[in-house]
Amino acid sequence: MTLRFPVARPSLPTADAILPYLRQIDEYQYYSNFGPLVGEVERRLAERYGVDPACVTTVSNATAGLTAALQAEAKARRRNVNDGPAYCLLPAWTFVATLHAVLAAGLEPYLVDVDEDSWALTPQGVESALERVPGEPVAVVPVSPFGRPYDMAAWDDLSHRTGLAVVVDAAAAFDKGSVGQSPAVFSLHATKVLAAGEGGFAVSTDTDLINEIRKCINFGFLGDRVAQSRAINGKMSEYHAAVTLAALDAWPQTRKVFDDIAHAYRDSFSQDNRIRLLPGGADDYASSTVMLMRDEALPEGFDEALADRGVGTRRWWGGGVAKQVAYRRFSSDLLPVTDWLARRCIGLPCYPGLSRDDIAEIAAIVGDTLRGR
Ligand SMILES: Cc1ncc(COP(=O)(O)O)c(C=O)c1O
Repeated sequence: MTLRFPVARPSLPTADAILPYLRQIDEYQYYSNFGPLVGEVERRLAERYGVDPACVTTVSNATAGLTAALQAEAKARRRNVNDGPAYCLLPAWTFVATLHAVLAAGLEPYLVDVDEDSWALTPQGVESALERVPGEPVAVVPVSPFGRPYDMAAWDDLSHRTGLAVVVDAAAAFDKGSVGQSPAVFSLHATKVLAAGEGGFAVSTDTDLINEIRKCINFGFLGDRVAQSRAINGKMSEYHAAVTLAALDAWPQTRKVFDDIAHAYRDSFSQDNRIRLLPGGADDYASSTVMLMRDEALPEGFDEALADRGVGTRRWWGGGVAKQVAYRRFSSDLLPVTDWLARRCIGLPCYPGLSRDDIAEIAAIVGDTLRGR
């Protein structure tokens, strides 16, 4: 069914915008393996986050970046095989890629519930969960829900106090992502605010760690062809770097588009105090996802009823990772908040080209459907 308002309609840089960068690739004849365009992306990202270029590495996608960052961190915390599984705590309320990465890095997941207000793990919640983990906890992956800012200083502090490796899944947090010693990993997937089709990057003020991540995304090689660590191939190609550079050129306009959409939704729903929106409230940030949350469960058949009226929606994280068919067997805390969010949250249409009138119409359709009209 073609929807009048699909939930997403990614709009990446045009061929004309990418062309000057493709011509550079023709000139350099360098296509992968940390070429000049990848170097330029890393320099520009470093400038954006106020760090040295050695603090940034591009990756092929955030899942590979998270895997490599966890592998790099786990290696630094060498353990005896008799110690049993090395546990990694992560929120149950996240996209399944977070869990894929934990497993790919050779760690044993332990699912923790999120905070009701921030939809994310908190350092306090993690500390109290540590005693319930059925083995040795070595790492934690806090997730920025749909691009919401996170407190990197607090996570670095937790890491220093507990010895846990922290890797922040900042997949959607390009706009207000904060950086510190613990690596933060960002996605450049087509559905993200800064989109290159596929791609990602990791930032940490610990340049040794960034080098270790680079090794883990490059077959374990660093400077020679000897595999020095468990590894994958997770490098960004020069072609994806070309799209990323064109996307960075357009970032100020792209940011305004997504910010305007979020504000238009807030204005359209402002009369209904039982509805909360993300992004919304005090911590303003640009996201390619607008999430609606109601204070009661969304009615049965809500998604289908909206689709019948031409409005696309998505349960971006389904019921959380504990509900994924492949992953129901892992150790976990009780997850009442995750279950609660899964029944109340839904992604609304969000893409460049949506006008304020479109958004007012979508909000009216959503409101009518919630009232059973
Ligand atoms: C929270 C979260 N983590 C990880 C990922 C994976 O990112 P990528 O598609 O770049 O691998 C996503 C992608 O949507 C995500 O939302």
